[in-house]
Amino acid sequence: MTASSSAAGSGAFRGSLDTHHEERVLVLDFGGQTAQLIARRLRDENVFCQLVRPDLPASRIKELTPKGLILSGGPASVYEEGSPKADPGIFDLGIPILGICYGMQWFCHALGGKVAPGEKREFGLAQCAVNGANPLFKDLPANSVVWMSHGDQVLNLSEQFNSIATTETCPHAAVQHKTRAIYGLQFHPEVTHSEYGQQMLRNFVKNICRCAGTWKIESLLEREIESIRNRVGKSRVICGLSGGVDSSVVAALLYRAIGDQLSCIFVNNGMLRKGEAEEVRFEFGEHFKTDLHVVDASQLFLSGLKGVTEPQTKRKTIGKLFIDVFKEEAKSIPDAHFLAQGTLYPDVIESGSNPDGPAASIKLHHNVGGLPKELGFELIEPLRDFFKDEVRRMGLALGLPEHLVWRHPFPGPGLAVRCLGEVTEPRLAILRECDAIVIEELRAAGLYRQINQAFAVLLPVQSVGVMGDARTYESTIAIRAVTTDDFMTADWFRMPFDVLQRMSTRITNAVRGVNRVVYDISSKPPSTIEWE
Ligand code: XMP
Repeated sequence: MTASSSAAGSGAFRGSLDTHHEERVLVLDFGGQTAQLIARRLRDENVFCQLVRPDLPASRIKELTPKGLILSGGPASVYEEGSPKADPGIFDLGIPILGICYGMQWFCHALGGKVAPGEKREFGLAQCAVNGANPLFKDLPANSVVWMSHGDQVLNLSEQFNSIATTETCPHAAVQHKTRAIYGLQFHPEVTHSEYGQQMLRNFVKNICRCAGTWKIESLLEREIESIRNRVGKSRVICGLSGGVDSSVVAALLYRAIGDQLSCIFVNNGMLRKGEAEEVRFEFGEHFKTDLHVVDASQLFLSGLKGVTEPQTKRKTIGKLFIDVFKEEAKSIPDAHFLAQGTLYPDVIESGSNPDGPAASIKLHHNVGGLPKELGFELIEPLRDFFKDEVRRMGLALGLPEHLVWRHPFPGPGLAVRCLGEVTEPRLAILRECDAIVIEELRAAGLYRQINQAFAVLLPVQSVGVMGDARTYESTIAIRAVTTDDFMTADWFRMPFDVLQRMSTRITNAVRGVNRVVYDISSKPPSTIEWE
């Protein structure tokens, strides 16, 4: 798979290779975009996993006593000069090896086989047929869907290997060494499109490597805390809080690591949800007693947005003001050297923040790189290797409350992009109340966690209604609720009618200025999740 070699594994794992005897699997990272995903899939099996350089000497690998080695995919071709190689000494360590895509091609090539460009590049789903029983394919059907992404493939196997699966275009879709525990997969078991991929990885670590699978994500916290302490020393760290999950987990983690060397900045831009500012104040001022700087810049943002109705202009205005306000506040914190950010692994990939990576900037509006380099801080991004659900688990383990940890995402520009038309204080007040009702009703119906994001949108549309005997001419609220795996595509949630009815009745009864409620039944694409 083509890839971003420096994005994968640039975080905690790579830096903190220690030798204490914890059960672990090493991923030799050949630069594949999904190397971190392999690590995450193994963590889901409660097996600790570290990404390491692909050429880590076999002697060092032996010292680390891994129970298994996974050789990741990567963008290079094994027959090209200078392509990354592992130390062939790994074949003699007696440690089971699983090669994925480039990883498999590398050892097939190194052990006498022939790798060459396939007839055509293969990208996408393929039907994979397994040839007979094999420990890697235990509990799998004979045929299943796998996800391929490769240009090269193994043409001829050396006689040391057997082919154990095929696809239409790929005669050696999976291979097994005849005498050693060395397996290879041309496809990517780590991506969810490979139907039984998780089962294959489970078979490898549990049955072939004999991992017990007793590791827990909580143990990662200790590791992260230690590495933050070592890096930060006696310096001060600033953490920008947004009220969302990611920045809250970063702040809680840093607080645990460095206590009062942490200063948090929370900018109230006036575009927050009901009760949000108070909650941040409680959580990080009282529960965690951080040095919390709350900057109430609501009026500044409101005046900056006066007369602005165009969505991009709203976003840009808010982004610029945020940087100004943050910068000003940061100046008041002497001797701060580091800035902590809640960048997650998917952000790194999706934003294409690695200039050598293939992933184009998909989420242009995303937080990554939200604060400019000119602020002059060194960045700490302790969540850079992790996925959202892992971050949630860390948050809970750090003592953050459940409702915060499971909170739906909220965009940086906040209610401004849900208040269509001009953003004014009275309109925000209406939207804030309606949004709170929507969320309360979802929670009361036990639906909040089934939905990935839900909110109210205030439309710039007035329509005629009747209340008592009087005619009204008031605003319309749209309710949006979506389910999604990755927020890149989404489906509208099939909301039960009685829940919609309660939302609608409460909104029109309790919120002055709204006489109509509609439900948004658009999927993404073609719509986006937010309305602006
Ligand atoms: P769209 O509307 O593009 O949103 O389908 C996808 C996800 O991104 C969130 N979003 C943002 N997040 N800053 C953020 O941190 C932003 O400016 C921003 N705009 C949208 C959106 O809420 C959804 O979860």
